[in-house]
Amino acid sequence: MQDLDTLEKDMVAAITGAADMQALEAARVAALGKKGQLTQLMRGLGQMDAEERQTVAPRLNQLKDALNDAVNERRTALNAAELEARLASEKIDVTLPVRPRPAGTIHPVSQVIDELTAVFADMGFEVAEGPDIEDDFHNFTALNIPPEHPARQMHDTFYFPEKDDGERLLLRTHTSPVQIRHMQAHKPPIRIIAPGRTYRCDSDQTHTPMFHQVEGLVIDKSTHMGHLKGCLEEFARSFFEIEDLRMRFRPSYFPFTEPSAELDIGCSYAGGELRIGEGDDWLEILGCGMVNPRVLDHVGIDPDTYQGFAFGMGIDRIAMLKYGIPDLRDMFDADMRWLRHYGFVPLDIPTLAGGLSR
Ligand code: DAH
Repeated sequence: MQDLDTLEKDMVAAITGAADMQALEAARVAALGKKGQLTQLMRGLGQMDAEERQTVAPRLNQLKDALNDAVNERRTALNAAELEARLASEKIDVTLPVRPRPAGTIHPVSQVIDELTAVFADMGFEVAEGPDIEDDFHNFTALNIPPEHPARQMHDTFYFPEKDDGERLLLRTHTSPVQIRHMQAHKPPIRIIAPGRTYRCDSDQTHTPMFHQVEGLVIDKSTHMGHLKGCLEEFARSFFEIEDLRMRFRPSYFPFTEPSAELDIGCSYAGGELRIGEGDDWLEILGCGMVNPRVLDHVGIDPDTYQGFAFGMGIDRIAMLKYGIPDLRDMFDADMRWLRHYGFVPLDIPTLAGGLSR
């Protein structure tokens, strides 16, 4: 029995001293496994006489229980310690400062394109695209601007050198050729906007050789001037975020629309400062009209069945108006101080639900 006491002490010490799960398992197997010390002793019971067995057997059973208890206790302790260590290593310090605002900003032109796209998308418009390098047909002829038309001079076109076959490609002078390309490729009903770069050989405080426009085109069987008016009024109110914005349609002329109009919005120039939606002056923001049947003829859409409206607007200009940017040329100077001042936080994507410009 003295031996058993020592043995018990040693085995329990091995179990409680196990540093990890692996060591604990080794200690358990050494005592209680198939070839373990206690298992061997149990086997020895068979050789004992009845009297001896009666004293040794209960002691061995008691020892077995004690060892099992010790193993379980140690296992629980090791599990708890492991969890503790994981919790300590995986914890997040929620008091850390949030990430700093990214150094880059979104250019006001990109921001305004996103804003107006959100407004028109809400009215069911799709975004269409066309090439910056155009041919004469798409930029002029198909838009009812024939070769000797004075509108060609007004556009101050950048031409490429003449090709062998006499054709001269050009940088598109407006986004209107996207109307033509879209109508050539798609059947009505059509409802698109086409924002993009445009080019004219012109440079002063209010003109840059590269600028941005957005074109709009709606073609259907019964689209009329009332739709044009409602659509553009809705746009202007949403875009400038002024519910009671004053507006007027003024008769105008464009070769590709008949009748044509320009949309003015109410503003004030009091104190030399322009304020949209105040005062009783007017500011022109876009050209529009009912698509000229000759344009529809050029793209193979029957003008006796289909009609629609179109509009074109300078994006840089409405960006300047909305965000109080004084000089157009600064927009394209890539001056970091200007970009930091007028730029927008990336990921602040304009939506009608979230507010166009917070
Ligand atoms: N393309 C014209 C320009 O650049 C703008 C314009 C006016 C587009 C009337 C249109 C429109 O689609 O209907 O000056």
